[in-house]
This record gives sequence, C-alpha cells and structure tokens, in this order.
Amino acid sequence: MKEQLESLLGAAVATLQQQGTLPADVQPRIQLDRPRDKSHGDFATNLAMMLAKPAQMNPRALAEAIIAAIPDNQLLAKCDIAGPGFINFTISQQQLLDQLERAYRDSQVGIEPAAKTQTVVIDYSSPNLAKEMHVGHLRSAIIGDAVARVEELLGHNVIRQNHVGDWGTQFGMLLAHMEELNNDELDMELSNLETFYKAAKKRFDESEEFAKRARELVVALQSGEPKCRQLWQQFIDVSLSHCQEVYDRLGVKLTRADVMAESAYNDDLAQVVADLREQGLLVEDQGAQCVFLDEFKNKDGEPLPVIVQKSGGGYLYATTDLAAVRYRQNVLKGDHLMYFVDQRQSLHFQQIFTLARKAGFAREDLQMDHYGFGTVMGKDGRPYKSRDGGVTKLADLLDEAEKRALELVQQKNGALTEEEQAHVAKVVGISSVKYADLSKNRTSDYIFDWDTMLSFEGNTAPYLLYAYTRVNSVFSKAGVNPDQIDAPFVLKDEREINLANTLVRFNEVVHSVADKAMPHFLCGYLYDVAGAFSSFYEACPILQTEDDSVRQSRLKLAALTAKTLRQGLELLGIPTLEKM
Ligand code: ARG
Repeated sequence: MKEQLESLLGAAVATLQQQGTLPADVQPRIQLDRPRDKSHGDFATNLAMMLAKPAQMNPRALAEAIIAAIPDNQLLAKCDIAGPGFINFTISQQQLLDQLERAYRDSQVGIEPAAKTQTVVIDYSSPNLAKEMHVGHLRSAIIGDAVARVEELLGHNVIRQNHVGDWGTQFGMLLAHMEELNNDELDMELSNLETFYKAAKKRFDESEEFAKRARELVVALQSGEPKCRQLWQQFIDVSLSHCQEVYDRLGVKLTRADVMAESAYNDDLAQVVADLREQGLLVEDQGAQCVFLDEFKNKDGEPLPVIVQKSGGGYLYATTDLAAVRYRQNVLKGDHLMYFVDQRQSLHFQQIFTLARKAGFAREDLQMDHYGFGTVMGKDGRPYKSRDGGVTKLADLLDEAEKRALELVQQKNGALTEEEQAHVAKVVGISSVKYADLSKNRTSDYIFDWDTMLSFEGNTAPYLLYAYTRVNSVFSKAGVNPDQIDAPFVLKDEREINLANTLVRFNEVVHSVADKAMPHFLCGYLYDVAGAFSSFYEACPILQTEDDSVRQSRLKLAALTAKTLRQGLELLGIPTLEKM
C-alpha cells in the first residue's frame, strides 16, 4: 500500500511539473508516515511543505494542487489537508479487505520480496575463541540472526559469516598452558574455557619462562609448525563446540559451516600489505606499516593511522578485515556487507570501509555497513556482571533464564505435565532474554533485568507468547481449522477495523526492519498486534455471535492475527507455543 501510494504521489508530482506548477528539476524524496492518531488517516506526508519553497507557493495551496493531481485510483478513500500543509490519506475499505485477504492466503503473510534481491553477507556473533562466550556476545548473535532471517524472507541470498578470533598472541599463552597438562587434565580444564584462560594468564604473569614459551609458540603457530598447529586446532575445536551449544540453545542459525575464522585469511595478509604499498598508501611509522587517511583525525587534528603490520612483522585486526572485505566481495560475490559488531568498533569499521575503497579492494557500488549496538548494563548502571563481579558466561545466563522461567511456569499453570512445563520454561526463558534485547533500540544501552523481561505485562516475550496461545485457543474451542475459512472479511466494529489496519502494516514493518537493521520495529509492531487483538477480543464476541458471516470473519481475523504473530516471532528467532 505504501509503495502504491508513493507511486501515486510520484505521478502527481510529475503532472505538476508538466503543468509548470513545480520546477522540472526537483526530485523529491516522498516520505510517508503512519500517523499515531487514527483521526489523521492511515498515512501522512509533508511533501507539500518540502516543495513549497521551490514551487514558491503556500504549502496548503500546494497540498491542494497535489491532491488534485493524484491520478484516479482504487486505493484512497480520501485526502485531507491538515495543519501547515500536511496531507493525510485514508485508505479505502475495499483496499483494506483485499489486502487482508491476500495476507490470509499468502504463505509469507503478505510480505513482499525486496524490489531488488542481492547477495547479503552478514557478519555476526564473531566471538574471540580464547574465552567462552559471555554476556557481551549476546547482542551481535541475537540481532544479527534476526536481521539475517528478515533478509532471507525478503528473498535475498544471505551468507552468514562468523568471523571468530582464533589468532593472535593470546593463543601462545593458551598453548603453553596446554603443553603443561597431561591428557586427562587437559580434557578437564578445557571443559571450562573461562577458568582455563585465567589459569594460563596467571602462569603467564607469574613465570618469565612460561611467558617466553608462550611467545615462542605464537611464532611457531604462525609459521605453521605442525605439532603446534595440532594443539591449537584442538583448542579451537573445543571452543567452537562451546559456541555451537550456545547458538543451538539460543536458536541462532549459525553452524560450523558459517565459521570463517581470522586465521583463514592468514595467507592473504602479506598480499594485502603489498597491494597497499603498490597503491602508494603505506607509510612507515616507528617501524610499523601504516595508512593515514585524511578522513580520520584525532582531537588535535593529527591524522590517525590504520596500522596494518607491526614493526616485528605481525599483522593486525585491521589487516584481516581488509582481506575479509576482498573475500566477501570477490569470492562470496556479496553486494551488501553487513557487520553486527559493538558500537565501540565504529571507528575501526569506518576506517576499513574507507581504506578498502581507496585501495580498490571494494567496488564503488559495494555497500558496506557497520550496525553497532549498545552495551548490556546491570541494574547499577554499569556493564552487566555476574554476582562475583566477573563476566557472566552466556551458558550460565541461559541456565538462569530457564530456571527462573520454570519457577514462573510452575506458579502459573498447574495443568501442564512436568515435561510440558520443562519445554515451556525453556522457550519462555530463552525467548525472554532474546526479546528483551531485540525490543530495545539497537543503538542504545539497555538494562538487563530479569523481572521485566519475564513479566507477562508489557512488550515482553511472555506477553506475546501468551497472546499467541490465547488467539489459538479460539480455534480449538470453535473446532475450526484456521487455514480454511472461506467466508469474506466483513469489518464493522471500530476494533475490527483497527485490528485489520494493524495487520496489514506487517509488510511495511518487515521492510523497514531490513532497511535500518532495527529489529525493535518488529517487536513494537507485534506488541501493537497483540494489543489490537486483545481490544477486539474483549469487544467483539466470536463464538457467541449469531450472525454466521460475522462469526466467520472474526475467526478469520483471529487466524490472520495468529499467523502474523507466528511469522513475526519466527523472524525474531522466537518459537511459538501451543499452550503455556
Ligand atoms: N572478534 C571480534 C571481537 O570480539 C569481533 C569481530 C567482528 N567482525 C569483524 N569482521 N571484525 O571484538
């Protein structure tokens, strides 16, 4: 509907240009918003206000001219001018009914494929393998996964990349510690990478000899010494299986096949540096190979270097990311490279993108975007910590989520069997953690609070999961298959109309999630759907209705509500429950 309206307005602008009302060279970006207040119609635009100046007209008069120039159509019931020159559009009821019918019949619930489908390479999760995943790894995995699901549904060719950190000096220390242990001890110690890392670090800090061995092992590893490689591989395998366990529990779609580790670029790094040199971009600074870009200066206006090779010859995080850009463009054939990485790395990515273009590693039209996110905070307003003040392992956090959810489920519903309770608790616990994250604006910090995320009130996973079971219970009570209702929609009550208007926005919302990589738009929308259904359900009896056509239509609205909630939650990586 939004696109249709956009093209109608585009046509109106063209007509006004032909008539000479508008100058021929203006190319307005037509912005359409959904007004909060229903009395302002279904869409609003500030187009007349934007064009008033070039047209040298009063905005209200121009709004009138725009409305007069809109071609005849089936879409609009009316257009009103409001305030200083806004135009409010009301969609015709026939249009609404057609749209509902389409969404009801469509396996994608009316979500249309992207106008231009692309190969989208999505870098997400990407933890360092030296330690176990902790709470700081939550956001990239969850947000990246949701956006990947959305891009896929819109028809893009999605390639997931888990750019794990498996290289660098830390591994020398870990390998040195591995060498000291016999097989049994090793298996034991590797079962908890957090303590393993701490033990290795302690040895490193305490013993000069150990530290020396650690440094030797880094060199041996990088030169491909077989025994050392083997030990390293053993460590990486253990660490990756820890990650996989977390992904599986979280319902994050990453697999081993998506892992493209830092080490995989190792053989290309010398070439990256050589190519930069050939482009005349390299400067030696205190023995290190650097690139200075005019675009990046520090507070005092001095240029900031991107270091690509240390004085000792070692390569850096930036070098690997340059190699990865090339690989994603040339080998994976990506059109759009998306990175879901902590906001604090924003300078790094701006530098990489700028440098990749300058060096000719990235085509002019290659789209590269860093989607940063804020920090998970504790209630004390500082980054979230475990009770002992250390970092919280993600696996422990998920255990706690399930445990708390189980207590909740046991209190709430005694009618479930023990097995059902356990299943419901798993879904509710994990979903609550995910949803609490996804429902916040990606770019802000948020406070991790068990009580709010597990609440049955407000914009939370338990509320939505429960709303879904409630909608579904209508069908079991009615003994109706929700997918096989043949009667047409009839909309009379304002709550029916409001629910219908909310349901048909789904397509638009999903597209906006893809455009901005902002899953919280979808969360807010699903919350609106559940709220609109709840008001409808209270005011409009379904099963007790005498009139069969009304009853069928209401059942059908409920069916589309369930379908929308299920599809929406699935895009967020949250499974639905039949009962809870
Ligand atoms: N391993 C890095 C970290 O934990 C994140 C990697 C993100 N992806 C990338 N291509 N740089 O900070």
